[in-house]
Amino acid sequence: MCGIVGFIGQREIKRQLIEGLRELEYRGYDSAGIAVMQDAHIQSFKAVGKLSNLDEKTKNFETSGLGVGIGHTRWATHGKPTELNAHPHMGEYSYVVHNGIIENYREIKTALEKVGVNFLSQTDTEVIVHLFEKEVERYKNLFDAFKATIDQLDGAYAVLLVSQKAPDTIFFARKGSPMIIGKNRNQEVFFASSDAPLIGEAEEVAYMEDGTIGYATPDTIYAEPDSLVFVPLAGDKLTAQKGGYRFFMEKEIYEQYDVMNDTMIGRVLDDDVAFEELNEAFLDGISRIKFCACGTSYHAALASSYLFERQAKIPVEVEIASEFRYKEPLLTDDTLFVVISQSGETADTLEALKMAKNAGLRTLAICNVDNSSIVRLADATILTRAGIEKGVASTKAFATQVMVLWMLALYFAKKRGTLNATAIQKEVEAMSRVPSVLKKALDVHEKCKRLSKRYLHGHGFFFIGRDIFYPLALEGALKLKEISYLHAEGYPAGEMKHGPIALADAELFTIALMPKTLLYDKTKSNVEELSARDSTILAISPEFFDLADDFILTHPHEHMMLEFFEMMVVEQLLAMEVAIRLGNDVDMPRNLAKSVTVE
Ligand code: M6R
Repeated sequence: MCGIVGFIGQREIKRQLIEGLRELEYRGYDSAGIAVMQDAHIQSFKAVGKLSNLDEKTKNFETSGLGVGIGHTRWATHGKPTELNAHPHMGEYSYVVHNGIIENYREIKTALEKVGVNFLSQTDTEVIVHLFEKEVERYKNLFDAFKATIDQLDGAYAVLLVSQKAPDTIFFARKGSPMIIGKNRNQEVFFASSDAPLIGEAEEVAYMEDGTIGYATPDTIYAEPDSLVFVPLAGDKLTAQKGGYRFFMEKEIYEQYDVMNDTMIGRVLDDDVAFEELNEAFLDGISRIKFCACGTSYHAALASSYLFERQAKIPVEVEIASEFRYKEPLLTDDTLFVVISQSGETADTLEALKMAKNAGLRTLAICNVDNSSIVRLADATILTRAGIEKGVASTKAFATQVMVLWMLALYFAKKRGTLNATAIQKEVEAMSRVPSVLKKALDVHEKCKRLSKRYLHGHGFFFIGRDIFYPLALEGALKLKEISYLHAEGYPAGEMKHGPIALADAELFTIALMPKTLLYDKTKSNVEELSARDSTILAISPEFFDLADDFILTHPHEHMMLEFFEMMVVEQLLAMEVAIRLGNDVDMPRNLAKSVTVE
């Protein structure tokens, strides 16, 4: 996961680029670099570690007058975090920065090496700039050469390229990794991976669609297809950061497609999963797993426990951190202790981690915030790469936690030999479809908006589901109660008859998660029991259910996790729309804090 910035204009370019990268620091990085072009001459600087190191390296460099620059913060995927591997990567007269993964870089590299190209880095990115310069030999027009280059890349990318042969120009392309272009009345052009660096700088921005390719100069912004829709960017930071959405929560729900791509980059490969964060020996001697977390992160852990046991055949226990701390737990050193936390600062989770460490257990943090207390303490960390989550009600952090845990379950399964190659391939294929499922799931937003008016009262909501959809039911109920202040419970569908069904009447709202891939008929019977007792039913399913009072139709999928992610989005949208109708502050619900640093 990386950050990209670009700039065309009259300002001091180095400062513009580095300050832009500073706004993207939250995305995590281990090295950074810039390339600045003036009068067809390019200078480039790179540094490992924090941006202050790049500041130091560039302290005697300044520009004045018109210039063009690109900058990058790198999170190592191919090759170690070294200066050579840091972007921008150079050819003979061009420089490139890239966010994403070029899946076929090995083939391209081998072909280029055969015709005498020398590579300096271990990265996948470097192939782009050399390929471009080869294509320039074939095409007279530089944009044609750039298009021919991008055409040959498989994988995900946001690319900016500058070349001495086109002194005022930045070439750009996007597929699967986010990129925004901005402009203002001073004929300045900006690029960035998120809108943070553009606030107060660009007056209008366009959020690039996948498949966009183009170039920008001080006078022209040209894109193919002609899909750049410029919208005003508010000057005030808060409004601008919301990017046109009513609430951060809404923006974060909509961002899930992009952040999920980031979560998967370098980890979900063609027929495998990989974690650079874990060394080979990390799991040696581990024969059980204990997950420990709070709130939404606990739900992610619980959901993944089904995957770990089913796929990796490893016993798993899931604990609420505040309970774990005082139960005098029995801990054995064949246990991997995994804490999950969006913020990395949750007091109960942090204390639980300390207990596990003191007991000599191997510890792993799954966290969204690099350098947080939990990350610093754990033996190893896998970052979820969801980007800053501002809404108190967690959405994209949950999505990325579940994704990382699913990948980890598969990683374990492979290591333990519990899934064969075909089964692993099937999982990996399903994983690669998650981002597009998250995007398609948003189609029901309007429907959720309309339905929300029917769910503003009642004496309670029961979200019900079976198997992995039970933790999802817990999460749906938590979302609703956090921001709507309505009473909501998550329950295993099969457990309703053991007590809660006594509450059933027309004012008890049942939100039924009815996936087709998992125990559909069983769940259906449980919903029928509730319907017979007059509970109002909102069914979420790809199959029409005639006893439902309300119905949200999801897309058919072959894999249960794809149904899981789609239903997750439906729950998020529904909770948000109910809360908005009730006039609540969705981003800052009463009595709650984003980071709970007290016991
Ligand atoms: O930062 P953490 O993931 O450790 O936070 C744990 C809970 O406080 C958090 O998930 C909380 O439940 C959220 N507000 C849920 O939306």
